[in-house]
Amino acid sequence: MKPANIVPRDRLIVALDLPGVEAAEAMIGRLGDSVTFYKIGYQLAYAGGLPLVRQLADSGKKVFIDLKLHDIGNTVARGVESVAKLGATFLTVHAYPQTMKAAVEARAGSDLKILAVTVLTSYDDGDLHAAGYRLGVSDLVEARAQQAQVLGVDGLVCSPEEAASLHKIVGHQMSLVTPGVRPAGAATGDQKRIMTPGRAIAAGADYLVVGRPITEAADQKAAAEAIQVEIARALG
Ligand code: C5P
Repeated sequence: MKPANIVPRDRLIVALDLPGVEAAEAMIGRLGDSVTFYKIGYQLAYAGGLPLVRQLADSGKKVFIDLKLHDIGNTVARGVESVAKLGATFLTVHAYPQTMKAAVEARAGSDLKILAVTVLTSYDDGDLHAAGYRLGVSDLVEARAQQAQVLGVDGLVCSPEEAASLHKIVGHQMSLVTPGVRPAGAATGDQKRIMTPGRAIAAGADYLVVGRPITEAADQKAAAEAIQVEIARALG
């Protein structure tokens, strides 16, 4: 179950999409006390960034490990057991029933929460068809969200546009974590389905993942704090 009353500051997850530990540590230092939650994905994890998880956790920060696991159940379970010892709060897996079941069982007894990625936001109906799926994006997202809920998955990664409809499907116990967030006027980059921080929160997102609008800002701390102010306003 997700925590009640998450304070606005803790709802911003800053994506450390950076080439190495030195760059990540410099950014964490610049953001200081302002940011409480970081995401480590492929780029930094495979560049030696995983020890940062423990470092950040020991300094009181929360960490989202975005490695989107998917393998045979036993391998997923053993991987999740290892991740659970790193001190992270969230870990992503792809929303396949065997994978989700193995991950949920393996995180039992730890503080790690499992987030399922229903359908990657870069996929449209044509991409799913090309990959051999019968269902289109909206039907597959819905089916996988329901499976995730039944299997006891803690939350879903979704686009802000899907947040309202997913709440209708899974209720309000699962955390909804949304990338694809852009402050008004920010460059969209390769994101297609975007919302401002305020609209994403109003749509029902619990946590917002933001990368380039902060990493590429001239003043990263000010950019992060402006997003937190917008989150607080949207929450009233
Ligand atoms: O720079 P930007 O704000 O677009 O970064 C978004 C982050 O969220 C990236 O780390 C990206 O990998 C991640 N993400 C995403 N879409 C998903 C899942 C994760 O953009 N469906």
